[in-house]
Amino acid sequence: MIEGNGNGSRWANLKGKVALVTGAARGIGRAIALELAERGADVAINYRNSKEHAESLAKQIRGMGSDCLLIPGDVSNKEDAHHVVETVLDSWKRLDILVNNAGITRDKSLRKMADDEWADVINVNLNGTFYCTSAALPAMMEQQFGRIINIASYVGQGGNLGQANYAASTGGIIAFTKSLALEMAKYNITANAIAPGFTSTEMLSKVPTKILEQIRVKIPLQRFARPDEVAKAAGFLAADGDYITGQQLNVSGGLYM
Ligand SMILES: NC(=O)c1ccc[n+]([C@@H]2O[C@H](COP(=O)([O-])OP(=O)(O)OC[C@H]3O[C@@H](n4cnc5c(N)ncnc54)[C@H](OP(=O)(O)O)[C@@H]3O)[C@@H](O)[C@H]2O)c1
Repeated sequence: MIEGNGNGSRWANLKGKVALVTGAARGIGRAIALELAERGADVAINYRNSKEHAESLAKQIRGMGSDCLLIPGDVSNKEDAHHVVETVLDSWKRLDILVNNAGITRDKSLRKMADDEWADVINVNLNGTFYCTSAALPAMMEQQFGRIINIASYVGQGGNLGQANYAASTGGIIAFTKSLALEMAKYNITANAIAPGFTSTEMLSKVPTKILEQIRVKIPLQRFARPDEVAKAAGFLAADGDYITGQQLNVSGGLYM
């Protein structure tokens, strides 16, 4: 085993790096913020409603020896998204790792889907990713360094019943990530998407138990992911993925191959 040299039990290979995770107070985003902090990064936490969860996370991160900023803001609002990124840059003068994690579902069959259910999901998941990324790029280009990790979904590749809005937003994130990777490679900025399968968070708790069981048996590994299992993929891409760009990494127990 490699001895730790700072934060957490693993070696701190993100020491000196600055990360921003959107929608980090709960679920997968929270696990990613902890993973990056454990690897030694200073982590800015964006949250929208979950102030108490965000504060407890900040306490945990500081206890691990990393610095932490708490930044409220709705990433689907362009001004908010830019403010979130600018707060990191004003405070820490750089931004090395951007994780666009904030996301929502508004599941409905396409025949019943209202315009606002379509628009809300596109606005948070896809537009939010665009707004935060656009705001971060000038600093990353100046630094000649950036690691952008966009949380998409296996649904963005395979589609899903009742999730046309979510599939379009996460499929859009994957296509966006590839174009971003192409445009930014010359600045040593990589862009990759993580496509989680079904992961045990509040998002999944909205799905009825009977349907969850029907889904579970279709997963080759026969279980849902834990948020920390998705977070490990983000940690890997941020710390060790220097020659990986434009990819979607499925963390889905084999659900999508
Ligand atoms: N769970 C799964 O099965 C699964 C599968 C595939 C992909 N994903 C993706 O993984 C990501 C995280 O999902 P999760 O399962 O962790 O969901 P979750 O437990 O519902 O958490 C969602 C997070 O996103 C934040 N958020 C939502 N809208 C926001 C906005 N407009 N601005 C800023 N933050 C916002 C929430 O913040 P507040 O609480 O502060 O509002 C919350 O922290 C999402 O992009 C989701 O699409 C999840």
